[in-house]
Amino acid sequence: MNTPDRYAVIGNPVEHSKSPEIHTYFAVQAGQNIVYERLLAPLDGFVDSVQSFVRDGGRGVNVTVPFKLQAHAFATVLTERAQAAGAVNTLKFDGDIILGDNTDGVGLVVDIIRNAGRVLTGKRILLIGAGGAARGVVLPLLEQAPAELVVINRTISKAVELAYRFADKGCIVAGDAKALQRSFDIIINATSSSLVEEMPPLDSAVFAESSLAYDMMYAKEPTVFLRFASERGATIRDGLGMLVEQAAESFFVWRGVRVNTMPILASLRGKM
Ligand code: ATR
Repeated sequence: MNTPDRYAVIGNPVEHSKSPEIHTYFAVQAGQNIVYERLLAPLDGFVDSVQSFVRDGGRGVNVTVPFKLQAHAFATVLTERAQAAGAVNTLKFDGDIILGDNTDGVGLVVDIIRNAGRVLTGKRILLIGAGGAARGVVLPLLEQAPAELVVINRTISKAVELAYRFADKGCIVAGDAKALQRSFDIIINATSSSLVEEMPPLDSAVFAESSLAYDMMYAKEPTVFLRFASERGATIRDGLGMLVEQAAESFFVWRGVRVNTMPILASLRGKM
């Protein structure tokens, strides 16, 4: 058998990453001869770690906290979605070319449309947050041509800045979290408030019974945001499906093969 192609997830910390399990599953399903490892890079050693991985035959990496901006700077060619995101979660090494891509936004969109069975086209979407995670999903959301994409944030100036940045890509506006008292079809929490078990500022009127409330974080139990939404009748979904779908898109970027994500999503869900 030929030597397997090497891939890895690089981050700090990286020991809890589910990416090795997900990609190893994809490789078996698709009959691809690869190995997928964890690479713990020193906080000041991202580029050195990647370069040594490439010298040792590495073909691509997924990039996680805190290196997504450095990966963006390190890439020699950026996809449109990586440029829009301002961050890179997927690097592909091809001769002298270091391709930087970002599959997070597509992962979210695919999870909502295919796995949650919700339409985005023509719908009212509320995006909460204006940091890196929020910016990473704006372009793929706008590509679905929603009726509107309203961005709210604890620091309103950052929401205004984000909406301004994407103004030429679709119907995106910044809103005032406290004054926004109408319902949305899809409400996405892209803040890190769930990490500290806090609610992002918003009015409960944004949730209707037909709403889907989506938290890009995932945990064993629903986040405080999802519990709040559920109490107001909304359907809730965490970010585990987004994690699996962004991985599938990275796998496609590297290997040109589409995989079936359902079994690994069910398996990860079962282990939580
Ligand atoms: P990330 O890459 O996870 O997006 P980030 O760029 O630091 O990280 O952005 C964090 C986002 O979560 C911001 O929108 C932040 O709001 P501010 O811009 O006001 O800082 C939001 N956030 C973090 N903690 C929050 C909390 N406890 N409540 C509400 N919003 C919070």
